[in-house]
Amino acid sequence: MDRFIINGGARLKGTIAVSGSKNASLPIMAAALLADGPSTLTGVPDLADIRAMCELLGDLGVRIQRDQNGVMTVEVLDASSSHAAYDRVRKMRASICVLGPLLARRKKARVAMPGGCAIGSRPVNLHLKGLAALGATIELVEGDIVAGAKQLRGTNIFLGGPFGSTVLGTANVMMAAALAEGTTVIECAACEPEVADLAGFLNAMGAKISGAGTHRIVIEGVDSLSGADYRVIPDRIEAGTFMAASALTNGEVHISNARLDHMMAVVETMREIGVIIEPDNGGAVVSSTRRLEPTDLTTQPYPGFPTDLQAQVMTLLCLADGNSAVTEKIFPDRFMHIAELGRMGADIHKEGQTAIIRGVKRLVGAPVMASDLRASAAIVLAGLVARGQTVVNRVYHIDRGYECIEHKLRSVGADITRLSGD
Ligand code: EPU
Repeated sequence: MDRFIINGGARLKGTIAVSGSKNASLPIMAAALLADGPSTLTGVPDLADIRAMCELLGDLGVRIQRDQNGVMTVEVLDASSSHAAYDRVRKMRASICVLGPLLARRKKARVAMPGGCAIGSRPVNLHLKGLAALGATIELVEGDIVAGAKQLRGTNIFLGGPFGSTVLGTANVMMAAALAEGTTVIECAACEPEVADLAGFLNAMGAKISGAGTHRIVIEGVDSLSGADYRVIPDRIEAGTFMAASALTNGEVHISNARLDHMMAVVETMREIGVIIEPDNGGAVVSSTRRLEPTDLTTQPYPGFPTDLQAQVMTLLCLADGNSAVTEKIFPDRFMHIAELGRMGADIHKEGQTAIIRGVKRLVGAPVMASDLRASAAIVLAGLVARGQTVVNRVYHIDRGYECIEHKLRSVGADITRLSGD
């Protein structure tokens, strides 16, 4: 298993280009199952989760090729299988987003029911409720969701749950409704930019979707969809992670290919903490007022502060001059990073869904364990600023969602090396 060795203390300076969004790319790739003909996708990052999606789509008869510039061509060659097996789904929960397209295009789907994961229990009841409302029959057979429908029919669907809207649930229902008969209205839809990006791709394929990016999405079903050429949006979570890296190291990093309009809550919160973010042609220059201020934040569905940046911003708050409170409203158990940051000298305690962070003067290097994707990013950030050496074990978690993170950080001056093997 690979490890990162990080010698903390380097001030980051230079330019980092943000990759295309993982969470936009995954459902967009799944949407290619709906098309007659090939699609070309630009900006899909080269990540473990994307490779997992390629393998799953391969099982489902889709040919995927990348050219030397990374442009991906996706084309259905064989529509005979509709089975996403447990072995695939357990490696990547986002596999669930083939359910809607398979049902709509192949009239049936068998997709292993995803279990929980390191960030908590992650039900898919809202996905199933939405698809059932479109007329699908759904049963659970030997741990698989088995769904069928001769013809899906548009209807009005309320997709809110106890934690608000659902991103992949909205994606699944929107993809299925694109080929349904009649009009579907999704109320309490997720507004995340990744949902709007998926709608952009579906519309380029010939779908008739309006309102994506708001809580009310209207989909007029069409008979068929063609392939399309599309560029995915930049990864707002990766951009936010590099903003935190620059601020923590008292650096000055130009983050290019970042959509600040997708990051309003993040930019606001970082500014409260003392991060200086100067918008610049398609990105921002990020530095900091040496003294970081404490703040309180709550994760929320978009446009609120994203849960996927909670851990990384907590690392920033560990070094703030005072006490902060971070409340997690999307995944109440998403606090695995607290114990690892504690090994590095952070002073954090958890009270239910809230972490209280008492700022400390410095963090110190230590051997630490990556536990999930974003928690791993938080401890890499801590390693960049800690005194001494940090060894991050199990970096396969970070490889799921950050393209060449060690190369990007090294290019702006970080002392980080990957050690392969045991
Ligand atoms: N929920 C339900 N029922 C459902 C679906 C969700 O109760 O049927 C609950 C969840 O348990 C959670 C909340 O609703 O409390 C929101 O979950 P959501 O469905 O929006 O999460 P997701 O679509 O499975 C995506 C991202 C996650 C990100 C969340 C929230 C992808 C591939 N994944 O997951 O990204 O944290 O939205 O923004 O898009 C990551 O990249 O590290 C990551 C975990």
